[in-house]
Amino acid sequence: MIPDSFKQDLLNRVDIVDVIERYVPLKKTGANFSACCPFHSEKTPSFTVSPGKQFYHCFGCGANGNAISFLMEYQGMGYVEAVKDLAEDVGMKLPDFEPRNVQKKPDADPDLYGVVERASQYFREQLKDSPKAIEYLKGRGLSGKVAARFGIGYAPDGWQSLQSVFPNYADKALKDAGLVIDNDEGRRYDRFRDRIMFPILNQRGAVIGFGGRVIGDGEPKYLNSPETPLFEKGRELYGLSQARLAIRDAGRVIVVEGYMDVVALAQHGVEYAVATLGTATTPTHVSKLLRQTDELVFCFDGDGAGRRAAWHALEVSLPLIADQKVVRFLLLPPEDDPDSFIRAHGREAFEAMLLKAKPLSTFMLEGLKGRVDMESVEGRSRLIHEAGPLLQKIAAPAMQLQLLKQIAELSGISQDEAARLCGIRLSAPRHALPSVARPEESFARRPEVEQRSPLSGARFRDKSSLLLERKPIRKLLQCLIAKPVLAEDLPLDLFDEELPEARALQALTTFLREQSEASVAFVKECFRNTLHEDVIQDAVMELEAWRFQAEDVEAEFRSILVSFESVRVRARLDELTSRNELSPDEKSELTRLLQEQQALKNQPVSGPPVVHLQVPPVTR
Ligand code: CTP
Ligand code: MN
Repeated sequence: MIPDSFKQDLLNRVDIVDVIERYVPLKKTGANFSACCPFHSEKTPSFTVSPGKQFYHCFGCGANGNAISFLMEYQGMGYVEAVKDLAEDVGMKLPDFEPRNVQKKPDADPDLYGVVERASQYFREQLKDSPKAIEYLKGRGLSGKVAARFGIGYAPDGWQSLQSVFPNYADKALKDAGLVIDNDEGRRYDRFRDRIMFPILNQRGAVIGFGGRVIGDGEPKYLNSPETPLFEKGRELYGLSQARLAIRDAGRVIVVEGYMDVVALAQHGVEYAVATLGTATTPTHVSKLLRQTDELVFCFDGDGAGRRAAWHALEVSLPLIADQKVVRFLLLPPEDDPDSFIRAHGREAFEAMLLKAKPLSTFMLEGLKGRVDMESVEGRSRLIHEAGPLLQKIAAPAMQLQLLKQIAELSGISQDEAARLCGIRLSAPRHALPSVARPEESFARRPEVEQRSPLSGARFRDKSSLLLERKPIRKLLQCLIAKPVLAEDLPLDLFDEELPEARALQALTTFLREQSEASVAFVKECFRNTLHEDVIQDAVMELEAWRFQAEDVEAEFRSILVSFESVRVRARLDELTSRNELSPDEKSELTRLLQEQQALKNQPVSGPPVVHLQVPPVTR
């Protein structure tokens, strides 16, 4: 965690006017500066920057914040990234806020960027000298201008061509940058040979990796850079850096599947498209894009794979959309991809089709209806069952409610019944899943809630019992982060939501049931800027300090569940046995509880939750 004092110090040193001016031309108006708002489209300026208050504010759309939030919103940076960026500008060194024993990804060697950039330059030069590659690009309808916009290059057909720009070909950096491969005999050769090279840029416009396409036929059709300290596939989007301004002007972004789709769309004047990099859409992709614009259109091929990709994108988007955001889906005719479509039919036809893209709600309902027989009771029941988990994930309350209504109508039941069957609590306050919280929110103090027992809902009598309850929940969080599949086995009703840890546990569980492969870093990233950020970060730190074996995690997890269950049973037994009189129902409950208590005692581990827990101190 970045200490508050550091953040304050940083904000005192940077000048927000300088920061914003780098991206948006500002005009002096009295004591303030103004501009057309970079966060919504407008013709007259209603965006003001106050040097006195070191704040920006838009009277049109309400966007506001400080230098850190500006970078987060405008550049789509994460909090830490934004702080780092600003700190670099003013020569402040970020305090070492991560615990020492973290197996941290090695910091990107600052020179790696230089290495990748030099390679990219080389590929561009090589393109000029390769009639074959130029012919290929021309044949795909690309002009030199568009090739330059995307920095397209050519990797020549030789085993060690890069040696000509990197005389020290044995340099470790070449390997780290993913440009070369060392074979078993220790021989080193270029990863990309005789391929059209598409450089992949990060949001600041620095080259971080490449996609390389064979010329003509051949396998694999595309070869991508491996994951490197600079390049993480699940986070990056091809073409985003080039598309940024167009996205702002158009008020929307299109997500397509391929490099060539992005490039061909730009060739025809549709410059606001980006592509995932041969990976499925991730929450990071979606939240990154929704930070930049209010409308996101997934435009996938109309084949089976495209449909599956679209449904996956839908599931990933559900927790991330807010009511003012629009996510839509466009499935092309089966024989087309965006590249072939726009080449055949032109920009107007493409954009006309884009306007008819289905809103997420329609797409979801149609998808669900398409899977069941709506004419039968069985079919309509299945509809409700399939809708439940999807509805639960929706973070936007108005959208959730409306879809629930429609599901209820379609299946001929009341809204309350549908809510119950779908596991939606209508009146309860929502506990945000990892979602695109406005950065202001993450700066604000989280509201402290009255602490209650996670089991009985009773208010805590004293501090020690509070600790008893929090510790095991914290440990559960760690177990889940270490082994996401355990999320399947965690009963969510066990904990009282009034504890921040319990709320985080609930959000994490829901999240991990979908993302069972999530790495620790990914979890951390997805919960950044959410209400649960602090708790999750603490859990990650505690986890890193807990030198566990893989088997320990599951054992720990099970034993905590058993403990919770025992506490719950004991509390209820205490309550029943203290009564003078019991109803017949209560009597049978008592019998059942006594049996249950016996069974729990026979479990390998039991006892009060705290006994077998050794939670290391939180390192900060
Ligand atoms: N892809 C990949 N590796 C492959 C094949 C595909 O990484 N072996 C990724 C690339 O990002 C590619 C995208 O998946 O752009 C879509 O693949 P595909 O539809 O097969 O190719 P197109 O984009 O249509 O490529 P082209 O038009 O050049 O044939
Ligand atoms: Mn294609």
